[in-house]
Amino acid sequence: MSLKNTSDSYGTLTIILHWLMAIMIIALVIVGFIMTSMDDGNDKWSIYATHKAVGLIVLVLALFRWYWVKSNKKLNPLASLSNAEITIANTTKWILMIMMLVIPVSGVIMSLAGGHNIGFFGLFTIEGLAEKNKAVGGIAHEIHEIGGIAIAVVIALHVLAAFKHHFLKKDNTLGRMLGRK
Ligand code: HEM
Ligand code: HEM
Repeated sequence: MSLKNTSDSYGTLTIILHWLMAIMIIALVIVGFIMTSMDDGNDKWSIYATHKAVGLIVLVLALFRWYWVKSNKKLNPLASLSNAEITIANTTKWILMIMMLVIPVSGVIMSLAGGHNIGFFGLFTIEGLAEKNKAVGGIAHEIHEIGGIAIAVVIALHVLAAFKHHFLKKDNTLGRMLGRK
């Protein structure tokens, strides 16, 4: 296995980024919806702090992933795929690529504009604005919330498609993202 993609296999780094970010993003969506419905208090705010710090990691990884996808070979589609499937799969992937940037960026803007700090596990803190900007914070919050719902739907479709190929069509779509030839 090589670090970079070849025309018919995903490289190690593509695979690591995919699964590491998949776990983090799915966890952030679930935790995001749970934490916002909790009663105000220390428990809630400490989950907020962790959500923001993990979200920052996703933001940095997403920036790197854009560079990585752009500088790597695009794989040839499997012979078992129809043109429609190829188009749908590519569109879904680019929607996910865009949302994995837009959602954390809106989170950062919402927090800072709302005057809230963003801490990173005690290592550093990005200070919220001293003078809140409610309009900007409100728009960023809308984007974050709608983005959270939208990405949940797109992830569900993406995962269902992966399972359809694996269990019904029995092709190597999922295998390729698991490093199988
Ligand atoms: C890919 C990364 C992220 C995902 C998938 C995600 C997802 C979510 C979801 C689904 C919610 C609940 C819906 C809502 O009220 O907005 C939420 C809430 C929240 N997120 Fe994120 N988030 C991410 C990154 C971030 C980042 C980087 C920050 C800030 C640094 C952040 C700050 C917040 C805050 C403060 C809330 C609570 C908003 C409220 O009180 O209503 N999130 N997130
Ligand atoms: C259990 C969850 C998941 C499964 C089973 C899964 C499965 C797959 C598979 C099989 C591929 C390869 C498709 C192909 O070669 O045509 C793929 C690619 C991709 N997946 Fe997922 N995925 C999951 C979660 C996620 C999540 C949460 C995201 C992002 C929010 C994501 C984003 C992507 C992207 C952007 C690609 C394009 C490949 C690349 O990184 O260059 N996936 N996924």
